[in-house]
Amino acid sequence: MAAMLTINGQPTEAICGRSLFDHAELLSIDVPTSCRKQGKCKECMVEVVEGMDLLSPLAEPERHLKGNFRLSCQATVAADDGLIRCHTMRRGHMRIERHAFGLPVSNQSLQLDAAVTRDGDRILIDGIEVDRSTGPILGIAMDLGTTTVVLRVVDLETGELIADTSFENPQRFGGSEVMSRIAYDTDHPGRLLMRTLCGYLTHAIEDFPVDPRSIYEVLVVGNSTMRDLFFRLNVYSIGQTPYQSITEIELAEGKRTTTSLTQTGQQSLLPIHPKARVYGAPIISGHVGADAAACMLAVDLAHEERLVAIMDIGTNTELILGNRHRILAASCPAGPAFEGGAIACGMPALDGAIEEVAIADNSSISLRVIGDIDPQGICGSGLVDAMSELLRTGQMNDKGRFEDDISRIDLFNGEGKSVYLLESDVNELAQAKGANVAGLHAVFSSYGIEFNDLDLFYLAGGFGRHLNIEASKRIGLVPSLPSAKIVQAGNTAIEGATIALLSRSKRQELEELVKRVEHCRLETHPDFFNFFVEGCQFKPVEPIPCAT
Ligand code: FES
Repeated sequence: MAAMLTINGQPTEAICGRSLFDHAELLSIDVPTSCRKQGKCKECMVEVVEGMDLLSPLAEPERHLKGNFRLSCQATVAADDGLIRCHTMRRGHMRIERHAFGLPVSNQSLQLDAAVTRDGDRILIDGIEVDRSTGPILGIAMDLGTTTVVLRVVDLETGELIADTSFENPQRFGGSEVMSRIAYDTDHPGRLLMRTLCGYLTHAIEDFPVDPRSIYEVLVVGNSTMRDLFFRLNVYSIGQTPYQSITEIELAEGKRTTTSLTQTGQQSLLPIHPKARVYGAPIISGHVGADAAACMLAVDLAHEERLVAIMDIGTNTELILGNRHRILAASCPAGPAFEGGAIACGMPALDGAIEEVAIADNSSISLRVIGDIDPQGICGSGLVDAMSELLRTGQMNDKGRFEDDISRIDLFNGEGKSVYLLESDVNELAQAKGANVAGLHAVFSSYGIEFNDLDLFYLAGGFGRHLNIEASKRIGLVPSLPSAKIVQAGNTAIEGATIALLSRSKRQELEELVKRVEHCRLETHPDFFNFFVEGCQFKPVEPIPCAT
């Protein structure tokens, strides 16, 4: 009898005493590494979803890992029987989003005005020579999400998109949401979160079909915690009321004039030109970070007369409401459920994720899977579809309870892999939805308007882009607005980052815009709890009269 092992969904016989890394190599699975299995680089991490007890005890180089994460070069098979399932940090190409979707400004129509310019063979940043080269002048726009990291390489002279990639944020070993990452970073000296991410960024940049030394500027957006961790700042204060980035505190003390950050390529540890500039876009306030700021740029809020809302659903959902006259922003701690975290078979929207679910009259289930391969898990848009279909077919009630006392619904059963939904998963999703909906109600009531007063509702983010709108309305994830008012705008954060990378004037506009945003602190809104309880139910979102 031999134990079985599946890595990234590929099955093999598990050999006692052999490391997970060696098994992966035999399966031709690429495991990130910079130390050749020495236990030093910490990059070869895998998440063990089944059979943790069939592996060797944690080795010394793995002491930094929390939860079900192991270093594949250190963890060896320690049983002759049973099933071990694990996966490397997932990676995939973004679903092609080369054009803006329904956005007023796109980099196609943008006036190119990059900070990096050429004068003969001289390469200049803001007029200061940094290199001599006749090669291309490239830049990277980077969106550091809590769950997923997205990179775009663009030609700074033409605006052309050269390549893009996305991967699961490997900092997940320090917790799935920002508060646990802050606690982890505070408790573990040595900048382990940043160093691990940096290893993955290095591999991603080196895999692009360009010379990394021709990358002269990187524009980083992300929520306040992700951005500050990348710039190796102390993030402790973001986790403590009143939840402020150290850059915000220093701005208030007059020690800096902006919350944006700058370092050189060399300081960033990225394999780009050492004199490149790495610019961290300014944050708005508290957890409303540089990603939300970039969204404002992408929808051209500085010039917008109409009343628009932007909702970027994620681990921390960002909400922005307003127009060029007044802007309100909030951040909702929704947790990782809609990004596939805290869900038994959840995963980010990368290859292998179920993204669409339909249940026919005869109860048969049909699925659409990203990459057209066997399902490895289910991502946020698939979860929304699944709940909507279970609700529509009466297999789940509006409290999220499955009918007939069952606690698990199978979506897919294959060799060595099944994907299912538990009632406890639905409970996680209900709470994530409750936080989002409570945020919506709180922001709209603070602004003094109803949902129907809105001209446009931008659903930002990769998740928002691929949501089934009718399903989202049915379960009450988005307000019951006419579909014509809802724009599934795609990754507006990376779009905004790209715009700021290609245009100095837009970057300046962003610096000015963030100063005008009013921060709506949800934790102090008197009706927040009522809104939350209401939002946890699976039914359409309607306006709620405020008690205040
Ligand atoms: S390969 Fe570097 S720590 Fe495992």
